[in-house]
Amino acid sequence: MAYALVTGASKGIGRAIAVELAKKKYDVLLVARSEDLLQEVAAGIRAQYGVQADHFALDLSVVGASEQLLQWCDKNNYTVEVLVNNAGYGLSGRFENYTLEEYTAMMQVNMNALTSLCYVFLPRLKKLPQAYILNIASSTAYQAVPGLALYAASKAFVLSFSRSLTYELRKTTVSVTCSSPGATDTDFVNRANMQKKTLKVAERFNMTPEAVAKITIKALFNKRTEVITGGINKFGAFLSWLMPKKFTEHMIAGIYQVR
Ligand SMILES: NC(=O)c1ccc[n+]([C@@H]2O[C@H](COP(=O)([O-])OP(=O)(O)OC[C@H]3O[C@@H](n4cnc5c(N)ncnc54)[C@H](OP(=O)(O)O)[C@@H]3O)[C@@H](O)[C@H]2O)c1
Repeated sequence: MAYALVTGASKGIGRAIAVELAKKKYDVLLVARSEDLLQEVAAGIRAQYGVQADHFALDLSVVGASEQLLQWCDKNNYTVEVLVNNAGYGLSGRFENYTLEEYTAMMQVNMNALTSLCYVFLPRLKKLPQAYILNIASSTAYQAVPGLALYAASKAFVLSFSRSLTYELRKTTVSVTCSSPGATDTDFVNRANMQKKTLKVAERFNMTPEAVAKITIKALFNKRTEVITGGINKFGAFLSWLMPKKFTEHMIAGIYQVR
């Protein structure tokens, strides 16, 4: 049986991606920290789409979490055909507003867990006739973002790493896609401690997690290397490429209230 494993599937974009994959008749494995939410999502998916749905409550900021996940899959004979690295979060405000421990945990989830999961699952994925890796970056990957500095840098890492992996694996059966959503209506803003003024700007462009998941899953099965969800976000990335960096950074610093 072919499984799709989705990290950060308890809510938001990850939950919507899991639903989208279940609609395509994939059995799904849901990973996040919140056991109750995972149980709820899994039960809903089983009832509505008639596929298998299991869950594993796991904190991806803990070193060794990827190996635990691999062992859990092996123990249960779950063959993962689609690996979705979606779990992630941001911390907004000035760089010095958070402790180093808080930043280290964020980098662990956004970058290290994603990297380790690609690493430990890759040998198994390569043995399948067709397999997919989906990494979720962000529109913040396309420019520096004062006020969300380390988060944006972590997503630039995801984009760059994913593109290189796509190239390196091009002659294998493993296809790698990187999806970059812009502002999406999820819990992200609460965990990131976004300021009210910043939220007001984001709300004007918010997409639903369901719309983001649809575009992302279509890109995944079309074996696209990279997708930015939504016209406004594509335009934003184009402008960032076009405009002088200092100008873009100054404008963004205003939105994030760190001028
Ligand atoms: N929303 C946006 O505007 C936006 C824009 C661009 C990119 N993104 C990216 O999209 C992805 C999903 O975010 P979202 O918007 O859907 O936010 P969300 O609603 O806050 O969901 C985040 C998911 O990640 C999980 N997660 C967080 N920390 C974790 C940890 N230590 N271990 C395991 N799981 C963890 C959360 O589950 P638990 O809390 O249960 O652990 C949750 O399922 C993230 O990578 C984010 O950076 C979001």
